[in-house]
Amino acid sequence: MNQKRIMLQQKIKHFPVLLKEFIKSFEGRKIEVFLDGTLGGAGHARAILEAHPEIVTFIGLDQDKTALDLANENLKPWMGRVNLFHENFKNLDKVLDEMNIEFCDAMFFDLGFSSMQIDEPKRGFSFRYDAELDMRMDQNIEITAKEIINTWPEKKLEEIFREYGEERKSKRVAREIVEKRRRNKINTTFDLIKVLEPVLGKRRRIHPVTKIFQALRICVNDELNSLKEGLNKAILRLKEDGILGVISFHSLEDRIVKHTLKDDETLEVLTKKPIRASFEEKNKRARSAKMRFAKKRKKNE
Ligand SMILES: C[S@@+](CC[C@H](N)C(=O)[O-])C[C@H]1O[C@@H](n2cnc3c(N)ncnc32)[C@H](O)[C@@H]1O
Repeated sequence: MNQKRIMLQQKIKHFPVLLKEFIKSFEGRKIEVFLDGTLGGAGHARAILEAHPEIVTFIGLDQDKTALDLANENLKPWMGRVNLFHENFKNLDKVLDEMNIEFCDAMFFDLGFSSMQIDEPKRGFSFRYDAELDMRMDQNIEITAKEIINTWPEKKLEEIFREYGEERKSKRVAREIVEKRRRNKINTTFDLIKVLEPVLGKRRRIHPVTKIFQALRICVNDELNSLKEGLNKAILRLKEDGILGVISFHSLEDRIVKHTLKDDETLEVLTKKPIRASFEEKNKRARSAKMRFAKKRKKNE
């Protein structure tokens, strides 16, 4: 077995979040066309393909090329029915047009980053490893976290820390960054942590830089705008009686998902309260996960 294959096999060991609950939500439904907008390692994808052999067309998108390579490997048994695209889900309409598909029976989004991305030190997503401040999910994105930290004006930094990180000390954090970068460029995750420590304090159970890292990641990948655009397009391309499911991991995402589903008159929300992980769930990230489902109304409903 070559090195690349061994690496891929190791990465298969990740645990998709809320998997049992995800499968249960599609139980008893006939699905011919399924779109997974956030393929990742294809954990949910494999499970739905196994549970629904009637799926004739499976469409998987991911903006991360590495994730797509892994998904491609993991979905080999379904070759022929599976169509994978290196694409942001905000462009799902273009993908469907390209495939001559007007509507999908079911669509699913498992938002944010994957365990593969956060556990890969060189991607710069994690405060646990010292690495270049990158944080791009898609290598084609032109801006990196390093550029934001070293070039953006203080006011703009404060704004993103407040809006995307809900960090109470945004103003002081932004001032400290601008102060310190005058002397030395802030290149790596550990450089940034060193700059932030005097303002946010040293390591606690939840790392004090968590919110700042979240804000930078959301900003680099323009995550909230993609989510709004992607969800609205998904609703337009969902078949009558079709199901849309979304897993979110923090309040900013969940707020968008909750309101978009609730405010759209063509949808009936199926989860009055979001589905949360059970006690036994193995994936640590699942603790903050919320899964919501909605159904497209029939025209005469
Ligand atoms: C939580 S992981 C998905 C894990 C997947 N459900 C599984 O079982 O393996 C999220 C994935 O979505 C991708 N992603 C995040 N935002 C995206 C977007 N706007 N468009 C396309 N892919 C996106 C990330 O690159 C990551 O691979």
